[in-house]
Amino acid sequence: MRILIMNGPNLNLLGQREPQWYGNISFEAFLENLRQRFPETQLEYLQSNSEGALIDGLHQLGRRADGIVINAGAFSHTSIALADALAAMGKPTVEVHISNVFARETYRHYSYLTARCIGCIVGLGLEGYALAVEYLLRRRAPGA
Ligand code: DQA
Repeated sequence: MRILIMNGPNLNLLGQREPQWYGNISFEAFLENLRQRFPETQLEYLQSNSEGALIDGLHQLGRRADGIVINAGAFSHTSIALADALAAMGKPTVEVHISNVFARETYRHYSYLTARCIGCIVGLGLEGYALAVEYLLRRRAPGA
């Protein structure tokens, strides 16, 4: 099983950026831990600060993925293009937000991506990515 994890703008700064919302761990360190927790799953990772690069990456890597976990950062609240790219891939997708976006500014309450996803995990910190991967694996497991 191959799962694509995608992070949008400013998420390369995890561990340094607003720790009250995003914690103290870099995504690279977390990803290493995630790969140990899911040794049989191929976890591909793409982060970009550019909307076009995320869309291109989705076209390339999303095509061969069995599932997608996406945190598009601020593009979640603005990008119809990214939502269209997710729809075009037609892959089971879980949206993740590290912080509880509903406890923050109202402009963070709407995501164009959510309607293109099976569901959304919000406010559970980096653990949200692990829960999303677990869900995608379980969904594929026989008898699930
Ligand atoms: C975020 C929430 C977004 O509103 C914000 O722009 C981010 C991170 C989150 O993971 O909580 O960059 O997606």
